[in-house]
Amino acid sequence: MLLEVAELSVDLPTSGGVRRIVRSASFALDHGQTLGIVGESGSGKTMTALALMGLLPDGATTSGAILFEGRDLLKLNEAQMRDLRGDRVAMIFQEPMTALNPLHSIGRQIAEPLILHRGLSNAAAHAEAVRLLERVGLPDPVRRARAYPHQLSGGQRQRAMIAMALGCAPRLIIADEPTTALDVTVQAQILDLIADLGAQSDMALILVSHDLAVIAQNCERVLVMYGGMAMESGRTDDVLARPAHPYTKALLQARPRVGARRGERLQAIAGAAPSAGAMPKGCPFAGRCPLTIAACGEALPAPVMLGGDHMARCIRIDAAERAA
Ligand SMILES: Nc1ncnc2c1ncn2[C@@H]1O[C@H](COP(=O)(O)OP(=O)(O)OP(=O)(O)O)[C@@H](O)[C@H]1O
Ligand code: SF4
Ligand SMILES: [Mg+2]
Repeated sequence: MLLEVAELSVDLPTSGGVRRIVRSASFALDHGQTLGIVGESGSGKTMTALALMGLLPDGATTSGAILFEGRDLLKLNEAQMRDLRGDRVAMIFQEPMTALNPLHSIGRQIAEPLILHRGLSNAAAHAEAVRLLERVGLPDPVRRARAYPHQLSGGQRQRAMIAMALGCAPRLIIADEPTTALDVTVQAQILDLIADLGAQSDMALILVSHDLAVIAQNCERVLVMYGGMAMESGRTDDVLARPAHPYTKALLQARPRVGARRGERLQAIAGAAPSAGAMPKGCPFAGRCPLTIAACGEALPAPVMLGGDHMARCIRIDAAERAA
């Protein structure tokens, strides 16, 4: 197994006190596999991704384990994490400008980790940067390598960031909403590019998205998050064919149906997610869930295994099945 996350919890200090942002999340990923993390805004997707990268905000504390290539990342110091980042694991952010340095040329930024992690000479690293820009589909890569981030379009910048992430041939790439800032046609091209690159090498991919359709198209496995919890996980085919958790079902129903008539109302999920400051001690979906009973509010629902590694955290799976 490449990655095994066990009972990961993340606590963050806020002005209102310490908040538990990720609650007992467990999932695993093998070499070359693709995992989608899906959930509404604020469900803890980015914080889960940042925990894997060792890039949580200052003051964050964690518990559980993140075993990556057999080492627990939560036990590494900052220098050890820095060695790992960009080399064994890399991240593609939603907004490329947050990751790219406006003052350095694209080529230099792609070359730097190659010099640092792979010991390449300046000239070899720059030649490799041009090759990487070509690989991510940027026309005229020699000229693009000399360009500064502001001279590229949003889609081109995202390609440059992907080239940077690919540089050291990481074993795992984490892409957090990599296309949200782009227009729809460019979004599809970038997602295709990420999926193709993953398929060509034995690189595993974690794709974070609030859109279940994007995950369904690009990921073999899926993790549905809500209120900082992994509510349901398993093979994407199994989860979409037989969703077991009331929240996953609600998400599926909230999606625009293929062939829906224009103007036809979507069934939105009623109510709002609890804020991290007001997280109930029991199931975070209680209150919004049509199947809520008193017991739901008493404790975090334990994981229920549903065959293979299909898992859902709900105390009323049987009732949810009958309600389907
Ligand atoms: N620096 C921070 N300090 C304290 N709380 C934070 C911080 N950043 C995010 N949070 C809170 O952590 C929770 C999870 O946030 P996170 O960014 O992981 O959500 P997300 O699922 O990625 O949402 P989105 O789809 O909007 O990107 C939210 O309640 C958010 O308000
Ligand atoms: S545990 Fe209760 S509130 Fe939570 S999803 Fe299941 S039925 Fe709904
Ligand atoms: Mg996010």
